[in-house]
Amino acid sequence: MTTSVNDEHPGLGLGLGRLEGKVAVVTAADSGIGRATARLFAREGASVVCVDRDERGDPRVDRLIEGDGGQAAFILGDASANETCEEMVARAVDQFGGLDVLFLNAGTGVRAPIHETSEEQWTHVIETNLYSVYRGLKAALPVFLEQGHGNVVITASSLGLLGVRNYPAYCATKAGLINLTRQLSFDYGPEIRVNCVCPGPIDTARVREVPPRSRPVPLEGRESAGDAVKGLHRLGRAEEVAYPVLFLASEESSFITGHALVVDGGQTVAV
Ligand SMILES: NC(=O)c1ccc[n+]([C@@H]2O[C@H](COP(=O)([O-])OP(=O)(O)OC[C@H]3O[C@@H](n4cnc5c(N)ncnc54)[C@H](O)[C@@H]3O)[C@@H](O)[C@H]2O)c1
Repeated sequence: MTTSVNDEHPGLGLGLGRLEGKVAVVTAADSGIGRATARLFAREGASVVCVDRDERGDPRVDRLIEGDGGQAAFILGDASANETCEEMVARAVDQFGGLDVLFLNAGTGVRAPIHETSEEQWTHVIETNLYSVYRGLKAALPVFLEQGHGNVVITASSLGLLGVRNYPAYCATKAGLINLTRQLSFDYGPEIRVNCVCPGPIDTARVREVPPRSRPVPLEGRESAGDAVKGLHRLGRAEEVAYPVLFLASEESSFITGHALVVDGGQTVAV
């Protein structure tokens, strides 16, 4: 594995083989949390099928992984579409020989109070945040059930635990994912573990650009977002979410399922 001085993920260390020989799918993999996690999974020995609806990264995430000496494939597609979900599972099985870890990470939000949120916007958030998980699971679970093991990690949010102004569909869907995680762990244990992470504000494109805002958040906005993080007083880095996801995806968390792991620098410790 190689690292360069200008590496975009200085917080990722060399792999310790925690996912040696495993095959993982990562959705929303070409930016932010997904990109850092896909790369970390590969460093830890996994072959990684990366899914994104855009080619955002430079280099694209699969090439970044290959540059590290890892194995990856890339699927350009919408993670909330059945065809993409079926393709990502088929690619894992056909190209890499199986599927062990499913990291369902796609998410989006619309910043508006609910009475100003159109049905189209509401549906888009539900499609991206909930249907991507439903359809991803429907595609992957037959493989997991047949082989008798599997590991699912879902990206929820600290905003599934807190309310925040003008973010109704996002808060609702992320809260839904947290309880869905608990519910799934019942239905599919002991063979399949299901956990989620609840990141607080992380310094990714979402926070820099906050789609669908049409303009970038000014620097002072980013600083005040960091101030809202009560314990650590800063935004997190994508790598600081990737490691907790790796923990849940690896055997190091073998007695943990149905859990929502809060990775928020202390954002939710107090009002
Ligand atoms: N950044 C934060 O502060 C933060 C906090 C809590 C939770 N999260 C969650 O983390 C996840 C990743 O966010 P991020 O901050 O890394 O975002 P990001 O903007 O850096 O990257 C998101 C990536 O997802 C892709 N994507 C979006 N919708 C997709 C879809 N339907 N199909 C395929 N690809 C899709 C985009 O093309 C982009 O490459 C999301 O679920 C988000 O809700 C982020």
